[in-house]
Amino acid sequence: MRLLLIGPPGVGKGTQAKFLVDHFTIPQISTGDMLRKNVRNKTSLGIKAQAYMQAGQLVPDIVMLNMMQDRLAEDDGANGYILDGFPRTIPQAEGLDELLNNLGQQLGCVVVMKISDSLIINRLSNRRSCKECNQVFNLLYDPPQKAGKCNECNGDLFLREDDIPDTIQQRLNIYHKQTEPVIEYYTQRGITEIIDAKGSIEDIKTNIIDRISAYNN
Ligand code: AP5
Repeated sequence: MRLLLIGPPGVGKGTQAKFLVDHFTIPQISTGDMLRKNVRNKTSLGIKAQAYMQAGQLVPDIVMLNMMQDRLAEDDGANGYILDGFPRTIPQAEGLDELLNNLGQQLGCVVVMKISDSLIINRLSNRRSCKECNQVFNLLYDPPQKAGKCNECNGDLFLREDDIPDTIQQRLNIYHKQTEPVIEYYTQRGITEIIDAKGSIEDIKTNIIDRISAYNN
C-alpha cells in the first residue's frame, strides 16, 4: 500500500499516520520530521531549511525532491509507505510521479483530511511534541499523563517554533494557495478519499482504514 496523507497543518496527519503504520506494517515518511531532524543535527540540508520552516514557508521544491529521491530508494519502503506532508506543490507532485515511475511503483490512495481553519489554530496552539521521540500530544484533546513529560519516554515536551499564531496563519495561507491544487491533481485520477477530520481521533482512524481498505496498491 502506497498512501499519501494531504491536509492543512495540524489536521492530524501525523497522528493518523502512526495508526496506519501499525495497521499496514509500512513506514511513515514525514517530510516535516525528516527536516526537523536535519535542523537539529545542523546538516547542510537542515541549515538550508531552517529559515523557511521558522517563517512557515515551504522549503524549495528542488530540495524536497532531492531528499525524497534518496528516501524512497531505501529498502524499508519496498512494500509500501505513508507519505505525510509530501507532495505539497504541483511541481512536487509531478516530481513524485517521475520518482515513482523510475522505481516502477504506483500510488494506491490519496487521503485528504479536512477541517476548518479555526479548529486548526486551536489544535496547533495546544500541541506539544516530545524532544526525544517525536510523540505528539494535545493539552486539550490528548494530554500527557505527567505535565510537560512524554508518556512513552519521559522526554521533555515543547511547543514547535512554527506553532505560534502568526506562523500558523502563514502556513494555512500557503496550504490554501499551493497545496490545495495538489488535491485536484489526484482527484482527476480517481484515487482520493476525502475524510472529515473534525471528530475523535479514534473515529477518524476507523473511517480512514475503512475507506482505504478497498485500494490494492
Ligand atoms: P510538517 O511537519 O509536515 O507540518 P504540517 O503539515 O504543517 O503538519 P503538522 O505536523 O503541523 O500537523 P499534522 O497534520 O501532522 O497534525 P498532528 O497529527 O500533529 O511541516 C513543517 C514544515 O516543514 C512546513 O511548514 C515546511 O516549512 C516544511 N515542509 C515539510 N514538508 C514539506 C514539503 N513537502 N515541501 C516544502 N516544505 C515542507 O495533530 C496536530 C494536533 O492536533 C496534535 O496536538 C494532536 O494531538 C491533535 N489532534 C490530532 N487529531 C485530533 C483530533 N481528531 N481531535 C483533536 N485533536 C487532534
